[in-house]
Amino acid sequence: MRSVIDILDLSVDEIGELIAVANDIIANPAAYSEKCRGKKLATLFFEPSTRTRLSFEAAMYELGGNVLGFSEAQSSSAAKGESVADTAKTVSCYADIIAMRHPKEGAPLVAARNATVPVINAGDGGHFHPTQTLADLLTIQREKHSFENLTVGFCGDLKFGRTVHSLINALSRYPGLKVVLISPEELKLPSYVKSEILKPAGIEYIQTTSLEEVIADLDILYMTRVQRERFFNEEDYLRLKDSYILTPDKLKTAKSDLSIMHPLPRVNEISVEIDKDPRACYFKQVLNGKYIRMALILKLLKEAGTIE
Ligand code: NCD
Repeated sequence: MRSVIDILDLSVDEIGELIAVANDIIANPAAYSEKCRGKKLATLFFEPSTRTRLSFEAAMYELGGNVLGFSEAQSSSAAKGESVADTAKTVSCYADIIAMRHPKEGAPLVAARNATVPVINAGDGGHFHPTQTLADLLTIQREKHSFENLTVGFCGDLKFGRTVHSLINALSRYPGLKVVLISPEELKLPSYVKSEILKPAGIEYIQTTSLEEVIADLDILYMTRVQRERFFNEEDYLRLKDSYILTPDKLKTAKSDLSIMHPLPRVNEISVEIDKDPRACYFKQVLNGKYIRMALILKLLKEAGTIE
């Protein structure tokens, strides 16, 4: 059974196809409104979410399907001690496809190994978040029309930010990528991402603590929030949370066609004044997330033989 746990579970060609389908859905939504009639998506969310869960649900409704699930661990049998494997086996009896978010790295993989329907990782701890990456890639494609020769700055919590890890993974497969890593010392990109992804792919990268020093070089600036829920103590969070705040002033030297991205939720990292700047793409990412999830649900249900 085909599941998507890591963005690398999808080939470059498959990502190109998903983007093409998403663009077709955007152009012609009515053609897709019955594709999943009678089918069910289960959203199993053991961690908070607004966009990811609701966009999965909206995606399934817009395909004519139905949705069931839970939005907190406490309201599921996990609170009684049920394993992820047993939950996955159980939900496979009710739903045709599962989207799962879990605080433990690897939990959606365990679910995929035990489910009899496709499982989509909707975020596992500080590890990966492949469908946010698909939303990011659709946004980059629509803004930049290519994934080649981009200089991409990642700013904020690069240690715990799973959206950063997945997007670096995805972009590493396109030629000419340059990566600029902007974070406090304590929140640097994990060394496994450098040694397993950036170095083997021969990708040029620099690490800095200063956004001002590098902003003029960037085609894309990917801002992230400091991931409070993954800190061991509140003091460190409070010290680091406002490390980077993007204000109109800081954009003075930026390119006129910079794309400012953020997976959201934003806490304080981007001043609301920037929302009206034409370079702000974060609410486009939200909308694109729904369309690309529609494309992914269609692909996985087709491959499973659940729909035509
Ligand atoms: C991200 C996540 O859950 O990792 N949110 C999202 O799904 N768009 C980013 C975050 O929580 O900071």
